[in-house]
Amino acid sequence: MAERQPLRWAMRLLPAVVLGLLLAGPSSAATGDAPPGKIGLKPRREVAGKSAIFSGEQLVLEETDWYLLNLFRLWWHYGISFLRLQMWVEEVMEKFMRIYKYQAHGYAFSSLEELLRSLGSETFVNMTQRSVAESLLEVGVTQRFIDDVIAAVLRSSYGQSVLMPAFAGAMSLAGAQGNTWAVEGGNKLVCSGLLKLTKANVVQARVTGVSLQSSNGKALYQVRYEDDEDQGSAFYDMVVIATPLHFDRSNITFENFDPPITDFPGSFHPTISSVVHGYLNSSYFGFPDPKLFPFASILTTDSPDLFFNALDNICPVNISGTFRRKQPQEAAVWRVLSQQPLDKQQLKTLFRSYYSVQVMEWEAYPHYDSSKSLPPIILHDNLFYLNGVEWVASSMEMVAMAAKNVALLAYNRWYQDLEKIDQKDLMHKVKTEL
Ligand SMILES: *[C@@H]1O[C@H](CO)[C@@H](O)[C@H](O)[C@H]1NC(C)=O
Ligand SMILES: *[C@@H]1O[C@H](CO)[C@@H](O)[C@H](O)[C@H]1NC(C)=O
Ligand SMILES: *[C@@H]1O[C@H](CO)[C@@H](O)[C@H](O)[C@H]1NC(C)=O
Ligand SMILES: *[C@@H]1O[C@H](CO)[C@@H](O)[C@H](O)[C@H]1NC(C)=O
Repeated sequence: MAERQPLRWAMRLLPAVVLGLLLAGPSSAATGDAPPGKIGLKPRREVAGKSAIFSGEQLVLEETDWYLLNLFRLWWHYGISFLRLQMWVEEVMEKFMRIYKYQAHGYAFSSLEELLRSLGSETFVNMTQRSVAESLLEVGVTQRFIDDVIAAVLRSSYGQSVLMPAFAGAMSLAGAQGNTWAVEGGNKLVCSGLLKLTKANVVQARVTGVSLQSSNGKALYQVRYEDDEDQGSAFYDMVVIATPLHFDRSNITFENFDPPITDFPGSFHPTISSVVHGYLNSSYFGFPDPKLFPFASILTTDSPDLFFNALDNICPVNISGTFRRKQPQEAAVWRVLSQQPLDKQQLKTLFRSYYSVQVMEWEAYPHYDSSKSLPPIILHDNLFYLNGVEWVASSMEMVAMAAKNVALLAYNRWYQDLEKIDQKDLMHKVKTEL
């Protein structure tokens, strides 16, 4: 998890900037004034940059410096769709935020369905099963807006189409509120900082298996692990699995469990990230004079001719007060996200010339398929599974929220505080407890 999540968050910034500017206006697009927290992290400075959506042939939507002109263009092209989208996303987010209040009161949920139901009733559960496109059409967003704008945002954040489930889609589109931000020094500092804060005893090794053992009538979990030289094992009262249990992601075997615990169906979606230092070929986007190319990021529509999902000019993890983006005719660092590795010809199409290319393949999020049911949280009495939440939506915030739920659930179960598990009508209970 530690190596995947920072990318997810960084990638979130892309749609955040586009829709943030398009929908919310420039003032709310770049927040990032949250106070440094317990682990002393600060938000990274935002660097302004305009976005456009490319269809493979032309730019279908271009952001300008003028907020009113952006609004006007949206209105002209798409009518009221973007307001309907905004209302839909806001409603989902407002309900989702209830979880923090419930957790502050110690309430936990034993399944993802129960958790979703308590936040947004059956509708939230259904939103993990039906597509973004279907849900948006239902609230009156037009097909054209979905194809041009929603598809572009989802391609850049999840590398997937508008057929992905509505809940994950809404979370991704919530960047429209403009309040996503990155951590100065890199988002990975969240993981290392939290680990240090817990003062946990960390065994640096790969877990290979968990088996159920009993000692004096008490159930214990034996966790086996290995590193490059050695193997070892230890006994625990309680175990939380915090890695995706899918055959292509982890090789943890479970022994002596009845019913047996096996991998869950579904796979993770590979996204190729190519970081290129070079000169962008602005002609390809319809700007023969590179000096006139005004965009820092390009999203794409779902078109069969396109060989990439998104492209953006990336900034360092630390940004000084004097930092500025490179001029469009200068060599700069660009990140290209694609489904397949880019070949020489494709690189030559996007870049006039380049100094270096670094390629990374990430299995950053599930390959969403709306028909799958959600994995369980409780695998056995005191054996819990965290990453199933990624099938609801995949981001650092979702996983952090799910981790807190597992911690509360484990605690409440251990101390038999059943009142605090799967309670109904929590909105009401939380109000009267205050
Ligand atoms: C959820 O979906 C089921 C079947 O797809 C449907 O019968 C039910 O009415 C839906 N519930 C809500 C609240 O949308
Ligand atoms: C970048 O920011 C982090 C976090 O604030 C800090 O620890 C680090 O020293 C900074 N690095 C540079 C090169 O300024
Ligand atoms: C799981 O095991 C297989 C076969 O031993 C290996 O090829 C694969 O890389 C392993 N996967 C992970 C995620 O460790
Ligand atoms: C740049 O884009 C133009 C227009 O699509 C194309 O003709 C050209 O081959 C591309 N590559 C370079 C290196 O100019």
